[in-house]
Amino acid sequence: MRAAQELLPAGATLDLIELTGIPVFNQDDEAAPPAAVVEFKRRIRAAAAILFATPEYNYSVPGGLKNAIDWASRPYGDNAWAGKPAALMGASIGNLGSARAQYHLRQILVAFDMAVVSQPEVMIGNAAQRFDAAGRLTDDPTRQHIQKLLETLVKLGRNTRVA
Ligand SMILES: Cc1cc2nc3c(=O)[nH]c(=O)nc-3n(C[C@H](O)[C@H](O)[C@H](O)COP(=O)(O)O)c2cc1C
Repeated sequence: MRAAQELLPAGATLDLIELTGIPVFNQDDEAAPPAAVVEFKRRIRAAAAILFATPEYNYSVPGGLKNAIDWASRPYGDNAWAGKPAALMGASIGNLGSARAQYHLRQILVAFDMAVVSQPEVMIGNAAQRFDAAGRLTDDPTRQHIQKLLETLVKLGRNTRVA
C-alpha cells in the first residue's frame, strides 16, 4: 500500500485504513455500531474508489478483513460499499502471491455488486525478494503492475459520487 501511494496517477490520493480496533461483528449491534466501525464506514463513503490489499491466510482472506467488510455492509440498506469501484492486490512470501485470497475476496464483493477491476491482477509472489529490509517495494516490474492497476481504478473512481 505504501508503494501504491508512490505510484498514483496525478491528482489522486490514497488514504490507508487500518482495521485495528474493529471488534468481531455482532448483529445485535449493527444498528448502533461501535465508534471504530462508524469511522470505518465514514471513510469508505468519503472515498471515490477502494483499493483492497490482503495477505493470504490459510488459502483465503484473513478473518479480520472479512469481519470489517461485513460490518461496513450492514445494517441492510446502509451498505457503505455500495457503488464503489474497487481493485485488489496482495503479497505473499509464497509463490502464489495471495491469489487464492484475492479470488475469495472477489467472490465476497459480488454480494455488493461492486465494479472490481479484473486486470491487471497484482499477486506479488515471493515477496521477500521484492521488498528491501525497510519494507520498500524495490521490484520494478511489480511497481509497474501496481501503477497500471491504479490507473484503471482511478479512471473508474473519477465517475463515482462520494458522501
Ligand atoms: C494464519 C496464517 C495463515 C497463512 N496462510 C497463508 C496461505 O495460505 N498462503 C500464503 O501464501 N501465505 C500464508 N501465510 C503467510 C502470509 O502470507 C504472510 O504472513 C503474510 O504475507 C505477511 O504479511 P505482512 O508482511 O503484510 O504482515 C499465512 C500466515 C498466517 C499468519
